[in-house]
Amino acid sequence: MRSKLVAGNWKMHGGMAQNRLLLDLIVGGTRGLYGADCAVCVPYPYLSQVQSLLQDTHILWGAQNMSQHEKGAYTGEVSATMLTDFACRYVIVGHSERRALYGEDSLTVALKFKAAQSAGLLPILCIGETLEQREANVTEQVIADQLDAVIGLLGVSALAKSVLAYEPVWAIGTGKTATPQQAQDVHAFIRNRVADKDIEIAAGLQILYGGSVKANNASELFSMPDIDGGLIGGASLIADEFIAICRAAQS
Ligand code: PGA
Repeated sequence: MRSKLVAGNWKMHGGMAQNRLLLDLIVGGTRGLYGADCAVCVPYPYLSQVQSLLQDTHILWGAQNMSQHEKGAYTGEVSATMLTDFACRYVIVGHSERRALYGEDSLTVALKFKAAQSAGLLPILCIGETLEQREANVTEQVIADQLDAVIGLLGVSALAKSVLAYEPVWAIGTGKTATPQQAQDVHAFIRNRVADKDIEIAAGLQILYGGSVKANNASELFSMPDIDGGLIGGASLIADEFIAICRAAQS
């Protein structure tokens, strides 16, 4: 049986004082959670603060991006090894905002995935189609291509130590959630595609849904057979919302 994971993606939000308040509430509000892990992916400058606030709690943490390179003359970049200095467990790679706004292609994302794993981090690989692609009926092709970039570079076995996040681009930050059935259909497609290569890895793979998950739609989404939790943007900044979403993931 797969456990669930609810991961907050703070994006470019936060501040020392507000992080402390938010995390105090989240730690208190998710105490005793069972069958689900809870994590926050925060901006780099707060990793040290988050590590010290969360290290003795049940909440896990990670970053939202990293370089595909190990080290070198890459001004402004952050390596996977640097993230391990702050005991990160997760790092998001290939978020659609990185793909769209910073030109990250699927090969770059696959290289980041590889670098993350080499350093012992669990990559959360984001994949998803735009509205245009959905309307052109190419959702499955887009998802397959994004997934195959990683499988092609590293082999299907690499997925055993990773998390996938299906995030339809049209549902991110728009308030438009995929219906549970729409999300389930894509999650099942992803799992079947992995199962064609390795049934056991497919069965154990956590596939999160992301895109306008809120307290009022989380339970329905998380009750679908192939949805193993969520990657939460806006609602992860509001303690009550995030706590309720984590609770909805309990088995
Ligand atoms: P959202 O963002 O929950 O605000 O739609 C999700 C994400 O971008 O990971």
